[in-house]
Parts: sequence; C-alpha cells; structure tokens
Amino acid sequence: MRRFLAISFTVIALIATYRLTGQPDPKVSPAALHRPTANPDRIILTWSADPATTASITWRTAPSVTKPVVQFAPAEDGAAFVKTATTLPAHSEPLQTDLHLAHYHSATLTGLVPNSPYVYRVGDGFNWSDWNQFRTAAAGPAPLEFIYFGDAQNDIYSLWSRVVRAGFSDAPKARFLLHAGDLINTANKDEQWGEWHNAAGWINRSIPSFPTPGNHEYGGKILNTHWRPQFTLPSNGLPSLPETNYYLDIQGVRVVSLNSNVLQAEQGKWLDQLLSANPNRWTILTFHHPILSTAAGRDNAELRAMWQPIIDKHKVDMVLTGHDHTYGRSNLQTGLSTKQGGTIYVVSVSGPKMYNLEKAPWMARAAEDTQLYQVINIDGDKLTYQARTARGTLYDAFELRKSKNGTNRLTSQVPKIPENRRAK
Ligand SMILES: [Fe+2]
Repeated sequence: MRRFLAISFTVIALIATYRLTGQPDPKVSPAALHRPTANPDRIILTWSADPATTASITWRTAPSVTKPVVQFAPAEDGAAFVKTATTLPAHSEPLQTDLHLAHYHSATLTGLVPNSPYVYRVGDGFNWSDWNQFRTAAAGPAPLEFIYFGDAQNDIYSLWSRVVRAGFSDAPKARFLLHAGDLINTANKDEQWGEWHNAAGWINRSIPSFPTPGNHEYGGKILNTHWRPQFTLPSNGLPSLPETNYYLDIQGVRVVSLNSNVLQAEQGKWLDQLLSANPNRWTILTFHHPILSTAAGRDNAELRAMWQPIIDKHKVDMVLTGHDHTYGRSNLQTGLSTKQGGTIYVVSVSGPKMYNLEKAPWMARAAEDTQLYQVINIDGDKLTYQARTARGTLYDAFELRKSKNGTNRLTSQVPKIPENRRAK
C-alpha cells in the first residue's frame, strides 16, 4: 500500500509539474483563428459614392448567412434609434479563400444628411455586430483631416496594429484612413487579410478607408481575390480597374487612387482628363510605387516619365506613396527641380519591414528603420502635415499655403531631432 501511494504521488507530481512548467497548448491554426461564423466580422466602412450623403459597409460571415442586412439611423444621445432604425438588405458574394469559403456582404446607405452622425449595425436578424458610429462628410469645402499609412504588409497583427492605433489616438476625428498599398504581403492569403482587419478592429468600422493596391495585392497581373469582395469602393476610374483606380471629392479635396501595378499609360490619360475639370481647391494623389524612390536600385523612371508631367501640369498638391520601406519627403518639386509651386512627394512605411535608404538631394526629410503614420489637415488655404513615429514622436512637419492662383508656398516645420538612420 505504501509503495502504491508513493507511485501515485509521483505520478500526480509529474502531471502537476508538466502543467506548471508550461508545456504549451499547440498553436491555434490560421484556419481556426480566421474561421468565418454567422457572427459578422471584418466589418469595414468605405465610400463608393458621395462621402457627404452615402456610406458603404462591407463585412464577412460564414456561407450559412444568406439574408444579411444593415440597420442604420441618425445617431442620438440615447439608444432610442434601435427602435426606429431603417433595415436595408445587403448584397452577398461568396469567396473561396485558401482557408475557407466565406460570404462577403455589402450595402451602401444613401440619402444621408451631410456632416451628421449616424449609427449602423450589420447582421442576419439573429447575430448582430455592435452599433457603430460615424459622421458623414460636409457637403462643400470644410476643414478635413485624414491619416496616411505606407505599407503595413508584414507581422500585421503583431507589429502594425500599434501604428494604426497610434494614428487613431492622435487624430480621432480623421475623416478617412488612406492606405498607399501593400496592406498585406501575400495577395490571396486569408490569414493576412484577417490580421489586417483585426489590427484596426473597430477603427475600420468608424472611419472610412481609402486603399490603393500595391504589388503585394497582385499575383502577377491579377488583383487578389479578397480586394473587391471586402472593399466597397468607387468604380469611377478606368472601367477595367474598378475599385482600384478611382477618386472621391471630399470637403473641397479631390483624392485620387491610381493603380500603379497595371495600365499606367491609360491611367495617365484618365488622370489628365479628370484633373482638367476639377472644382476642388486641393488635389491629393495616392499610388503605391513612388516616382521619386527612397531605396537603392528602385528608381521608377518609366512611371515618372508617364505621370509626373500630368502631376506638374495640374499642380497636384501631394503624392502619397509606399513600396520602399523607408521614409522620404520632398520639398515642392516640379519635374526633378525644387521650386515653389510644385508638388510634395512622400514615401512612407507603417509596418515593420525596412530597407536601406538611398539619400538623394530631393529629400527634405528621410528616415530608416522607423514605422510612421502621417496626419494631414486641410483648412481653407492651409495644409498642415505631420509624420509621427510608431510611438507618437513628431518626426517631420510642414505647412503649405495656397495662393489665389493655386500656387503653394512651403514652410518647413521639421522638428530639431536627428534623422533616424540605421547603425552601420
Ligand atoms: Fe511594394
């Protein structure tokens, strides 16, 4: 008996030691982590039409959800809107990913009152999201703030998440989040898209996104299969590039997405026409591949030859790009020369992947090994720009003043801190 008790105690002690010394549970598989259910997830607010009177909402469920709806109402101080909300059926499309079959649902709210708060939730009548709140854009020129992110791309949930959250905490009233391409690393990997949605979480449900595709959103010449089901965007660019080449006019600013992966010459012609009839005081372009590169051996002379004369001709105010995994910001440039009245070019990176910087004379400010977000504020004839690091440190800043003839004057506000460079 004594011998039996001794053995029993030893076995119990061994089991306890095994548990306590942290023999881990096996890693949860991507398929389990990113499995769609009847409960809505990957909910994202975008625009596909006028930001003052419409809003588009897209989300994901398991394929069992076949009657998806959005409920929306003008926001109130209390929760009485729950009883009066309008129910709108959503459009559904299936998406077979490398992990699962999912359904993506989308709906566009129309007839909204400009510059007003609204609430919405998505679901199927049984399973509902939270009620999310957003504000429609003002109908004409009005102060506008937005946040611009370069490539997120790698370790998105682990290491990009803090950058999008830092951006939000700095500019919680931002009207949109602009992503300059390479949101993910592997075009059709559902796990990475899941990470991207999870990293921004409810921020994406409250502030519209304005994404342009990078080379990593492409497999060869084919756009990834997630993009169109998961983002409801305008199709007002080239008819062959719906939801990747598009533009929106918001509060006196024309914001244009060029898809720098394909049909560059055709988009150049389209851009020239679009900007020939532009009633907005300010014009911002975004595309992925910079035409002034910050990284060694990545000069895009061909793209620059195609697009820069059009940018110069129409006095585009800013060009926001990514791709080079470093930071570089120009002064006012026309062609390759610096003079008042030209365009500001920015290359930035928000994720953790970093390249070597190749310092060039056009760079008024540059960085290596620095995750950044940029807050851009436009108010009347003044544009203010701030680039901040992942921990919120002001790294770069300037102000543009627009004269009556549309020419900008630049005032540098670069903080007196050293350039972040890689230790040699
Ligand atoms: Fe890229």
